[in-house]
Amino acid sequence: MTNIVVCHSRKGGVGKSTIAYELAWLLDAPLVDLEHDGGGVTRKWGYRPEERTRSILLDALRNGRTPKPLKGHMKARLVPGHPELYDAPPSEEEMADALLKWGAEWESDWIVVDTHPGASPHTHGALSVANVVVTPCPLRTDDLNATEQLVHEMPDYPVVIVPNMVPRVPPAAEINRLARIIEGTPVQVGPLIPTASAVGTRKKRVAITAEPKPAKALQPVADGMIALAKYVKEYVNG
Ligand SMILES: Nc1ncnc2c1ncn2[C@@H]1O[C@H](COP(=O)(O)OP(=O)(O)OP(=O)(O)O)[C@@H](O)[C@H]1O
Ligand SMILES: [Mg+2]
Repeated sequence: MTNIVVCHSRKGGVGKSTIAYELAWLLDAPLVDLEHDGGGVTRKWGYRPEERTRSILLDALRNGRTPKPLKGHMKARLVPGHPELYDAPPSEEEMADALLKWGAEWESDWIVVDTHPGASPHTHGALSVANVVVTPCPLRTDDLNATEQLVHEMPDYPVVIVPNMVPRVPPAAEINRLARIIEGTPVQVGPLIPTASAVGTRKKRVAITAEPKPAKALQPVADGMIALAKYVKEYVNG
């Protein structure tokens, strides 16, 4: 059986794509990009969908076929996103059925899905078949507000909140607020990922955790990602 990890948040810019990219590498998972905007995992991987008239993802959905993920040296396999996803998105049911079918045909233990921020039918389709929903949350007021809304709206989903971009001294009030947000729900808080400005200026296309020896400034982030992948495996496998 394939386990499906969906990176999702209500607010943008919280670290979904960065985490999806690392988890796909660490879990040896095909990475399915449901982002229509640029700047996500597809571009990071080195693929420019705007230069292609056809979308591997949309063609597969329309023809009821299983897409062949792109392969790259030291990179997770990728089903790239495409701008046309915005104009002609699949329905909730089509997306859910497709991910289950693709997982079975790829014979992969894991699939990682990256999403556009917020709710849309195809995002809901992915969420409906997720074995774990990874929700990054910087410890900041706006991001905590959005996470509070998400927990309120989907407490019955397998949500794991990942405090992301956490400063060396984590803000105590925000940690307490996060604890209150999940109180009385099955939602979990996973390992935190520290902040490092080098993440934002990095140009390499391989995952940080794919590097045998990441730059010193990135090592704490790599350690956080490795801890998160381990957490996800334990969470899903019971
Ligand atoms: N641990 C980190 N420390 C510092 N910067 C980070 C960290 N993780 C991600 N970033 C940076 O934060 C920005 C947003 O990250 P990312 O694109 O992964 O978020 P996103 O949730 O996918 O955004 P969007 O909602 O636009 O898809 C990027 O510039 C990224 O490099
Ligand atoms: Mg993104």
